[in-house]
Amino acid sequence: MTHFAPARGSSPTEIQAAVDAVLAEATLEEKVGMMSGRGFFQAFLEDDRVWGARPYRAGGGIERLGLPPLWFTDGPRGVARGSSTCFPCTMARGATFDPDLEHRIGQAMGVEIRAQGCDLSGAVCVNLLRHPAWGRAQETYGEDSWHLGVMGAALGTGIQAHNVVATVKHFALNSMENARFKVDVRVDERTLHEIYLPHFKHCLDEGVASVMSAYNKVNGEYCGQNRHLLTNVLRGEWGFSGFVHSDWVFGVHQPYGAAAGLDIENPEPRVFGAKLVAAVESGTVEPQVIDVACQRILSTQFRFAGAEDPLPEYGPELVACEAHVALALEAAEKSAVLLENDGTLPFSRARVARLAVLGKLAALENTGDLGSSRVRAPHVITPLQGLERHMGEGAVLTADEDDLDQARAVATQADTVVVVVGYTAKEEGEYIPGDISLGQEGDAAADGRAGAPAEPRGGDRIDLTLPADQIALIEAAAASGKPVVVVIVAGSAVLVEGWREQANAILQTFYSGMEGGTALARLLFGERSPSGRLPFTVARRAEDYPFFDRDATEINYGYWHGYAKFEAEGVEPRYPFGHGLSYAGFGYRALTARLSGDRIEATVAVRNEGTVAAEEVVQLYVEYPGGVKPRAAKQLRAFQRVGLLPGETRIVRLSIASDDLRYRDAATRRWVLERGEHRLIIARSATEEVLSVGMTL
Ligand code: BGC
Repeated sequence: MTHFAPARGSSPTEIQAAVDAVLAEATLEEKVGMMSGRGFFQAFLEDDRVWGARPYRAGGGIERLGLPPLWFTDGPRGVARGSSTCFPCTMARGATFDPDLEHRIGQAMGVEIRAQGCDLSGAVCVNLLRHPAWGRAQETYGEDSWHLGVMGAALGTGIQAHNVVATVKHFALNSMENARFKVDVRVDERTLHEIYLPHFKHCLDEGVASVMSAYNKVNGEYCGQNRHLLTNVLRGEWGFSGFVHSDWVFGVHQPYGAAAGLDIENPEPRVFGAKLVAAVESGTVEPQVIDVACQRILSTQFRFAGAEDPLPEYGPELVACEAHVALALEAAEKSAVLLENDGTLPFSRARVARLAVLGKLAALENTGDLGSSRVRAPHVITPLQGLERHMGEGAVLTADEDDLDQARAVATQADTVVVVVGYTAKEEGEYIPGDISLGQEGDAAADGRAGAPAEPRGGDRIDLTLPADQIALIEAAAASGKPVVVVIVAGSAVLVEGWREQANAILQTFYSGMEGGTALARLLFGERSPSGRLPFTVARRAEDYPFFDRDATEINYGYWHGYAKFEAEGVEPRYPFGHGLSYAGFGYRALTARLSGDRIEATVAVRNEGTVAAEEVVQLYVEYPGGVKPRAAKQLRAFQRVGLLPGETRIVRLSIASDDLRYRDAATRRWVLERGEHRLIIARSATEEVLSVGMTL
């Protein structure tokens, strides 16, 4: 009986009829069966605990009716299956401020997901970066809610273009790692709605079709069974009609999670399944809850499975194909952020004939953490390989970095030194307790089985500075008297105090994916001008960030974080949000703004005043009238990347909905526009204003 499987090209009426038919035909057990994944634990053991070795059944599906389940695959930085394209990590892509590129990356992921038998993707992670120590910072786009929403929606809709359901995760307030299974995040009404939720809503409003709940509690209840979040806000206030599924294994704790609004427990029926059937039979959960959940699952699944595919076929040759690898390179080139430069960069081949490349990370295939987001790319170009290929044999010198005298001596023989510093999956990443494995490699279990970690790994960073041996290496390189360029590999902010003065230039590449080394060489040698912008604030002192305790069982997420906090407290960051240097210079003039209906339409002329082609990220912040307290003085509300030849001018248009300038009135739970003079600010970063114009709303 296969007639219940949705056919490509079905009309909305046919889809609704098919959903109704399944609901009429299925038994209670079959319906509840659709509300969980199945077979994960067994598959995982059979695959020697290698994560992503096969698609994971993640809800839906009734064999008797020929109804297929949803097949899940992970991965913010690429598809966590097979040997897929490894893009720069999400934080790097956040630094591109380029939703068009992000949408194309989403499409490439969508193709690779389909080519590997999946139709539900966990790639869209938009949790707000509250503190840079967060172990999974690399999986999200940054600290600014507006920017997070725009970038997440671009990725999600790109993935969905190939009829893969994208799920936005982790709903909500999941921005601590080690304590993620237990921490209770306390948050007030305004902070929740203004700071931590709008980016989820943005993704859903743009069409992202599914939501993954978070592990942590919010205001006393686990997110996977949190009625306020899953029903009152998500469905009631936002009108979301898709399905919500849990995070893996510990995502829901009681069958009442179904009544609270969780439609699918993943990856196994630990709490749903037989216990949920019993809860319905005993009257603790209404049968209606089950029908509503199945309706959401089926409608979404049928809508995607019933749509026409853009490609006639999704063959295995599309995975990590040339076009996708080129896209990974483009993203790596556009994401690197030039933090400092005294003119040492770009290198010219005339001045830099011999380059010393130092640091253990230079020769490491270091694409990010080794948890669920891990991508096994067919190749990874390390920084060292990228520079060697670029410069040719013999032009690159290396040293044993444990021997500082040798490192200094090698630096002395070169014209310039590049030191690659930062982190790996050991210092930051998904936290995997010792008894659970998500396929981390190179860390054999006590029983010798490959891939299972013997000890907990990853987690929140314990330090925001570089390890002492890396600072010593920078000092040794500087002692050679040769120009020193420091390349930072990390998922979020790294404090640079204490060694910054020793560097002639600092470039943050994040985890730059399978083509990171190629991009690095092109950037250092000026074939591309750096154009990434910091999607977070780099502080001078760790105390300047909000309170963070990686072992907390309860934590209060107050109103202030990110650039708004620095500004409110009058604290100068080392590098502000939005900061990033270029090999060109840009001039701005003629800012205009007018109200058109309920939108503010702004234009500004941007000119490349340099001598090389370069891309600029135009940032538009809005300063509020200032009568509402607490409130950020100003917030980013539009941005646009623009490419300019030397001497070229372009007029950039930026559009803001006045609804996006409202604050949340805590007493009435309504969104309110503060009347009065707003200032529209074109800025190079959160602290560097260039032009502004007033507008009364
Ligand atoms: C992670 C999710 C991931 C899921 C499935 C969890 O541990 O928190 O981000 O999607 O595993 O791999």
